[in-house]
Amino acid sequence: LQVEQQEHEDVLQWDFKDTFFNLTLKQVLFHSWLEKHCPGARFIFNGDDDVFVNTDNVIHFAMGTQGTEEQHLMVGQLFIDNPPVRIQQSKYFVPTQLINSKYYPPYCGGGGILMSGFTARVIARESHDVKLFPIDDVYLGMCLKKAGLLPASHAGIRTMGLGAPANANPFDPCYYRELLLVHRFMPYETAAMWQMLSARDSGAYLVAGGC
Ligand SMILES: *[C@@H]1O[C@H](CO)[C@@H](O)[C@H](O)[C@H]1NC(C)=O
Repeated sequence: LQVEQQEHEDVLQWDFKDTFFNLTLKQVLFHSWLEKHCPGARFIFNGDDDVFVNTDNVIHFAMGTQGTEEQHLMVGQLFIDNPPVRIQQSKYFVPTQLINSKYYPPYCGGGGILMSGFTARVIARESHDVKLFPIDDVYLGMCLKKAGLLPASHAGIRTMGLGAPANANPFDPCYYRELLLVHRFMPYETAAMWQMLSARDSGAYLVAGGC
C-alpha cells in the first residue's frame, strides 16, 4: 500500500476498522467521497482485490452502453430473489431482527460491479435514507430499489469463478478474451494472465498456437 501511495497517490483511507461487517460503511463513505471529489466520473468499477479484470473489455463495454445522456447502469453477477442467510454459523448470517423479508432486492455480487457515474450518484443520495445493512452488495441493491432502479446481469462478469468445463485448463487465456472479470485470482496469477493476454494481443500468442 505504501508503494502504491508513493507512486500513484491514489489510496483513500478512513478512520474505521476494515472488517467484513464494515464493508457497507466503506461503500457509503466511498460514494460520498466520489460525489464530492469526482463528480464527472463516467463509470465506476467496484471490485474485490482477488479478481482478474480484463480492463480493455470493461472499458470497451462501458463505452458502448451510454449515449450522450447520462444513464443508469449497474451490471455484474445478478442475484434475484436471494433469501437472507439464517444459518448462524454462516459468514452471511443476518437475524430476522435486522431484515424480516423473505428475499433481498435484486443486487449484483460485490466481487465486481460496473456502474455509471449517474448510478453512483443515485447510491450516494439514497444512502442518506437507507439504513446501513451489513452485507455491502445487498445494501447497494437496497439503494437502487429505493430509487426505483434495477441492476442487470453481464455474462462476462464471473464472480463465482470461470465456469469452464471440468477438464479444461482454468488458466487458458482463451477463456478470458471475452470476459470482463473472474473471481478469484492470486496476485501472481493476475500478473501472469495479464501477460498472456497482452502477448496474445501482440500476436505472439497466435504464433504459439493460441485461441
Ligand atoms: C467498524 O468500525 C468501527 C470504527 O473503527 C469499529 O468500532 C467497529 O467495531 C467496526 N464494526 C465491525 C462490525 O467490525
